[in-house]
Amino acid sequence: MLSNKSVKSTMLVTMLTLAGLALPLQASAECKLVSTKDNSPLSVKAAEGDTAEAKTFLETCINPYTQAYAKDPALILEKKAGGKKLYGYNGCSGCHGGKLEGVMAPSLSKRGGQGAFDTKWVYAKNSTDKGMFETISAGTPGVSGGIMPTWHKQVEGHAGDGLSTDEILKIIAYIRSGYGGDGDKDWLKDEPQK
Ligand code: HEC
Repeated sequence: MLSNKSVKSTMLVTMLTLAGLALPLQASAECKLVSTKDNSPLSVKAAEGDTAEAKTFLETCINPYTQAYAKDPALILEKKAGGKKLYGYNGCSGCHGGKLEGVMAPSLSKRGGQGAFDTKWVYAKNSTDKGMFETISAGTPGVSGGIMPTWHKQVEGHAGDGLSTDEILKIIAYIRSGYGGDGDKDWLKDEPQK
């Protein structure tokens, strides 16, 4: 006969084992990315030195910077590493304009302009941070008449030195902060993004 005490300790061991099994399952949650070019799976992995924000995004598809920037606009200008600076340093402004207004590429603020895509997303999925991350990371097929280059340093054919997951997430948060269109702001929703 098992004593009461040993039944209790057996239960404790069982519970700990279950908890131990549950943890790795949780940690393996993954945001499944697809290329905007052709919908094929897009492989971007957590890399050494990735920030907590980058890891959260790769697990949940939620960009923590978007909400942080929405609450505290001063972060957009954060010294050296803020989203606005990264947008300028990496030449996004050359095609999309210093104020996101669109120059030789569609406006990203969607406040209006010359082109059909200056008020709405060329790719509807860009209303989520997941969709926009896919568009910036691996480029586009050219629906608006020009193509968007590939930027993520883990994606073949990227421009220059390429950008890290963290840098792209900050740039997206900056783009969101300048939005002036009348579409849905899916990026402010807390639920996992498709
Ligand atoms: C050489 C010009 C060029 C540069 C530089 C460039 N883009 Fe683009 N981008 C484009 C073009 C052209 C499109 C439209 C693509 C299409 O129709 O497939 C586009 C599309 C986009 C879109 C989707 C817009 C929509 O309405 O759906 C986003 C977001 C974007 N670019 C962000 C960026 C960011 C961030 C950078 C800098 C890291 C950048 N772009 C640099 C040319 C450029």
